[in-house]
Amino acid sequence: MIRPMRPVVIAANWKMNTTPADAGDLATTIARRTAVPGVERVICPPFVCLAAVRDALAANDASVSVGAQDVHHELAGAYTGDTSATMLTGLATWVIVGHSERRRDHDETDERIGRKLARAVDAGIRPILCVGEQLDDRDLGQAVEVVDSQLAGALFERDRDALSRAGLVIAYEPVWAIGTGRNALGSDAAAMAEAIRATLSRLGWGPVAADVPVLYGGSVTAANIGDFLAEPSIDGALVGGASLKPDEMAGIVGRAGVTAAARLAATT
Ligand code: PGA
Repeated sequence: MIRPMRPVVIAANWKMNTTPADAGDLATTIARRTAVPGVERVICPPFVCLAAVRDALAANDASVSVGAQDVHHELAGAYTGDTSATMLTGLATWVIVGHSERRRDHDETDERIGRKLARAVDAGIRPILCVGEQLDDRDLGQAVEVVDSQLAGALFERDRDALSRAGLVIAYEPVWAIGTGRNALGSDAAAMAEAIRATLSRLGWGPVAADVPVLYGGSVTAANIGDFLAEPSIDGALVGGASLKPDEMAGIVGRAGVTAAARLAATT
């Protein structure tokens, strides 16, 4: 059987930047500068900017998807300040889950992250699960072990088929590379992408593990995206700081288009 080719995805994580007054214009500018065939583009603004970005993209380029940066692990209840998956319906079709900044600042555990995944899938929202080691872990040669345990913890007792049908994406984001200007090597990221798919197989995903897109994240720029996309096991990037800059996004998505075209040519 010929397996379907994995998509090339560039997801913009705006973090706690932009306002409802300016987010729509930025999204429109980025959409216009990144209209490259074959690349799946996602913009993840803060919650309060989701509606503005959704409306701007619907009016200007509906092929760009909107994502949220988090979702609560319960559906409703006494959780002041939080946002549930059902509230995101109509606003976002993707969601980032388990970002290291949420793990760090909100004490998110793998178990809780797993419940967020389930809430997203139940609401028909496509999750991007973030995993990644600290610098100490890498220095001690334990990077793969840490990522393996994050995956096992988040996916434990989760409905594999539902996650796979929902199009689960994994983002490998070494914590030491996020916002530091110090990106990982393409070869290290590729080795981790292979390890991630091996872990999924071990967790019972079988051949479907090979179809799960793995993105790299951590100080991605237009200048270094090629190092990652040159690796066949890497399917795109989760971009933070550079995703607020239209010039950077144009370069990143432009390079991703080269990979998307090459993958398409290889299957036809
Ligand atoms: P960065 O962030 O590109 O600014 O390093 C990436 C991320 O946190 O998703």
